[in-house]
Amino acid sequence: MYKPHLIGHQVRLLEEAHSNGYIMKNIIETKDLKKDYQMGDIVVHALQGIDLKIDEGEFVTVMGASGSGKSTLMNLLGCLDSPTSGDYFLDGININSLSKNEYAEIRNQKIGFVFQGFNLLARTSAIENVELPLLYDRESRFKNPYQQAIEALNRVGLSDRMGHEPNQLSGGQQQRVAIARALVNNPSIILADEPTGNLDSHTSVEVLSVFQELNAQGITIVLVSHERDIAQYSKRIIEMKDGVIIKDFNVENQRDAWKDLEEIKVLNLGEIQTTQR
Ligand SMILES: Nc1ncnc2c1ncn2[C@@H]1O[C@H](COP(=O)(O)OP(=O)(O)O)[C@@H](O)[C@H]1O
Ligand SMILES: [Mg+2]
Repeated sequence: MYKPHLIGHQVRLLEEAHSNGYIMKNIIETKDLKKDYQMGDIVVHALQGIDLKIDEGEFVTVMGASGSGKSTLMNLLGCLDSPTSGDYFLDGININSLSKNEYAEIRNQKIGFVFQGFNLLARTSAIENVELPLLYDRESRFKNPYQQAIEALNRVGLSDRMGHEPNQLSGGQQQRVAIARALVNNPSIILADEPTGNLDSHTSVEVLSVFQELNAQGITIVLVSHERDIAQYSKRIIEMKDGVIIKDFNVENQRDAWKDLEEIKVLNLGEIQTTQR
């Protein structure tokens, strides 16, 4: 939180207030957001009026049955698609008011997207995969994309796998490369559509530990999952059905992924010792 007009104790006061939840800034706000898909003669009403506010620093899981509109919502929030009607304010800016270039610009600046299938380039090293989004920047603002990619891979704990190609990495490692790629231009929001959908439960917890750590660093996270176990690692759950939000509540005892990983380790060690006896 950099506020040049404030002096020392004011900055501390603001930070204190912020960490106690007094000052919240809406980073995502939608008003009556709707999305229809035309399928020949049929119109599919995928989103039927979504009113949603997400504050900076939240960690939200969107749940709901297949076909309930989760991915449609994520694509709108991620500016990958535009709504049929309604408004979307991203960090206070009405997305409808932007030109095509401004729209692409705000997406690149503010949002990192993570997909279920990792979407990494094959036969391309981890570091090159992570570097790639920076090379698309038209104004070449990134002076050292390679260095920035190294830092992003460090943040997801993959500093020892930079030269590996996707087929030389486990599923969990590939997803961490994808998270590093989403992180590389320092977005304020990470949107992840079923990021653990292709992973076993232990690897899922590993990936969630990365999201929890990024959230602790202040990044707002919205992820989609249909597994209640996964949702327990977030702070808030939104449930969708038939294109509307039917529930929205805080997670009471947020699970700590690092702690759970430690416990799994201890359990596994116990097993090894038992079999050795
Ligand atoms: N590109 C598309 N064209 C037509 N219908 C779509 C398209 N994408 C999604 N739908 C439909 O919209 C509804 C919501 O889909 P989706 O957002 O993918 O749900 P979820 O991610 O919760 O499974 C479904 O009925 C789906 O069939
Ligand atoms: Mg989906």
